[in-house]
Amino acid sequence: MTATGMRVGIHDLAFATTHQVLDLRTLAEHQGIDVNKYYIGIGQTEMSVPCADEDIVTMGAEAAAQIVARLRAEQQAEDGQAFDGIRTLLFATESGVDQSKSAGVFVHSLLGLGEHCRVVELKQACYSATAALQFALGIVARDESEKVLVIASDVARYALDSSGEPTQGAAAVAFLVTADPALIEIEPVSGLHTDDIDDFWRPNHLSTALVDGKYSLAAYLRALEGAWTEYRSRGGVDFEAIDRFCYHQPFTKMAVKAHDKLSALVGSPLDKDQRRAQVAASLELNRRTGNSYTASIYVGLLSLLERDDADLAGRRIGFFSYGSGSVSEFFTGVVRPGYRDVLRTAADERALDDRTAIDHARYRALHEGIDAAQGSDYETAAETPGPFRFAGVSAQVRRYARTAGGSPA
Ligand code: COA
Repeated sequence: MTATGMRVGIHDLAFATTHQVLDLRTLAEHQGIDVNKYYIGIGQTEMSVPCADEDIVTMGAEAAAQIVARLRAEQQAEDGQAFDGIRTLLFATESGVDQSKSAGVFVHSLLGLGEHCRVVELKQACYSATAALQFALGIVARDESEKVLVIASDVARYALDSSGEPTQGAAAVAFLVTADPALIEIEPVSGLHTDDIDDFWRPNHLSTALVDGKYSLAAYLRALEGAWTEYRSRGGVDFEAIDRFCYHQPFTKMAVKAHDKLSALVGSPLDKDQRRAQVAASLELNRRTGNSYTASIYVGLLSLLERDDADLAGRRIGFFSYGSGSVSEFFTGVVRPGYRDVLRTAADERALDDRTAIDHARYRALHEGIDAAQGSDYETAAETPGPFRFAGVSAQVRRYARTAGGSPA
């Protein structure tokens, strides 16, 4: 609650991913290694791969369209009429498509949002969706009639044949931050940690990230300790008062390692199975999308809310958001009564099941095609079955369109 007694938090949360998938068995077979290194060792089974006409904008718009459609219906706004229920759109990404224009402006246009709206893109590796959440909470705390749309969308890309390759992926979430939220109230205390390090980064001339893998894992765990320590020193609840944990997931095993680390740090008596039960449901969607950078922790939240068998109403979730470089934050939220009515569990399952499986040659061709197209005008092949497509570049400008067949909601 805010100082004035108002609850603020996440009212609606929607998911999208690409419409193609590569099973990591295909990658392991091509590399001649045991697939269990991926399935068990890093905890990933599949990675979402964008079609030639999909990117962070098309995924972000597909996620956000579900929230806007519900809001339009609630407010009985006519389809096709500009929708002015959202006055701020924050787009978090680290795979931006333009160095100047926010990817959010493309989404604003695709969704037909009203002109009286502030739209901005935020960047700090995988952390920036949490920055967007905190900024949105501040806007709502100042004026409880405000509704802030946050989109986190990323395509995680590493060089072919690099050690990071199996931890690629793609997904987007959109969430609506409001007063009196229907899904989860975000509590005011948080712990922060920033450290100028080079564990993972992407220079301007590269379309793929560079990573010092083992160092990045150690840096993540150090940041967790730093953020947790500050969280506690600022009056945050103790470990035992938190029922479930939701971590940033560059690969799902990282969340398991992080939770073991935090449990040891606080001297928790929980055994391995009890610790797993606190994170297990949060891993299921990410295991199938692969890394989605900024979106990953909120894909984890959605997975937890949809997949945990227990009724989580009134239960507290601890969040650890980490963005290499590095900035991180530990904070908590309490699940609202009736949260299950807000979820789109079956549709989210379909989004994963309906992806087209691709072979290794197609995956590599798509990967290599990104760099080959840079700097020139081109049209993309019409491939995506989704509601929005990236049509290509003309006169150096990226062009987006609604598709004929896809339904935005
Ligand atoms: N069966 C089961 N497990 C296996 C296995 C097998 N056949 N072969 C290996 N493993 C396990 C290893 O024991 C290891 O587990 P552990 O870390 O719990 O010990 C895990 O699989 C990974 O093996 P490893 O040899 O460490 O893999 P790697 O050198 O190829 O690197 C990453 C793995 C994750 C470091 C690498 O993919 C990477 O750098 N990814 C990007 C990391 C990132 O996103 N960083 C940013 C952090 S936010």
